[in-house]
Amino acid sequence: MRIGVLTAGGDAPGLNAAVRAIGRSALAEGHDVIGVHDGWAGLIGTPNTYALDRASLAGILPQGGTILGSVRFDLDHPDGGRDRVLATINDHFDALIAIGGDGTLNVARWLADHGAPVVGVPKTLDNDLAATEYCIGFDTAVGVVAEALDRLHTTAASHHRIIVVETMGRATGWVATLGGLAGGADFIVIPEFPVTIDAVEAHVRRRHSAGSSFSIVVVAEGVTLASFGSAEPDDAPVDQLGRVQLARRSVGHHLAEELERRTGFDTRTAVLGYVQRGGTPSAYDRINATRVGAAAYDAVRAGLFGSVPILRGGEIECVPLADVTATVKVVPREIYDLATRFF
Ligand code: F6P
Repeated sequence: MRIGVLTAGGDAPGLNAAVRAIGRSALAEGHDVIGVHDGWAGLIGTPNTYALDRASLAGILPQGGTILGSVRFDLDHPDGGRDRVLATINDHFDALIAIGGDGTLNVARWLADHGAPVVGVPKTLDNDLAATEYCIGFDTAVGVVAEALDRLHTTAASHHRIIVVETMGRATGWVATLGGLAGGADFIVIPEFPVTIDAVEAHVRRRHSAGSSFSIVVVAEGVTLASFGSAEPDDAPVDQLGRVQLARRSVGHHLAEELERRTGFDTRTAVLGYVQRGGTPSAYDRINATRVGAAAYDAVRAGLFGSVPILRGGEIECVPLADVTATVKVVPREIYDLATRFF
């Protein structure tokens, strides 16, 4: 078989572990493994690909990013086109494994619904894919946030400051909540459970009255400015898919300025940004990216097209692509409540 592999959407630590697992599993059984450059863009017209062999897959397990490259590409754009990708897959591959988040897996689902031999792999450090307990990159991002909070605690304490820490996460607060829990945040604001600035201010004041001269407040990038009583900017820049670039709205700066204005406490902002996405994957991400990558190859070999391996109850199983893309998985109340118990 000629098996294509691509990574699409934002990169995440652990992508290379999945590519390696797919590639080495397939090579061991005598198949050709074709790496597609830059996600769906690499399948428009003549495929932009290269053969993956043992040498090109060597040493990539601990590497961040993706050796295949990744771009956000609008397939509904006139120059793009799902039909063109469909034709390329049917002409050049016996199977294609697409590693990505909701956007990528929605396209994979469309392609499979139109007869293409496609299998998905769940990746997003936002951790918002439904059905699966594992998405490539999330564990590493949570570790980065926890370590950042450890570091920010000492400087916040030394200078008696509030530090507002903005995390990634798009529409959900997974990275903020679990990173904040692991790093001992003093307040966490996420889109799922909006709070007013009055509530954050009251909490910080209570801490100060009780003798703590500093506070670490974590806010997820997707929190609306409206929840703080401010208007969203009309001219917020959008990405290649027309989605607002959430980090450019500066919700962390906004919250920090407002807290400082109201309380008079010296306040700073730390936007963790792409540091959460870059660099070496955690051991957990390496292990589970390997598990879902190997399972995706097994699904191809078994002809289970239109499916995606997920983690459920500690076990890997294959479910229809529709199961992971149907809804956005939000932070459940009990996890958020657990984090807030220690504020
Ligand atoms: O979806 C993953 C993610 O890292 C989000 O958390 C973030 O909003 C977005 O990607 C940033 O994407 P880009 O690489 O297009 O700036």
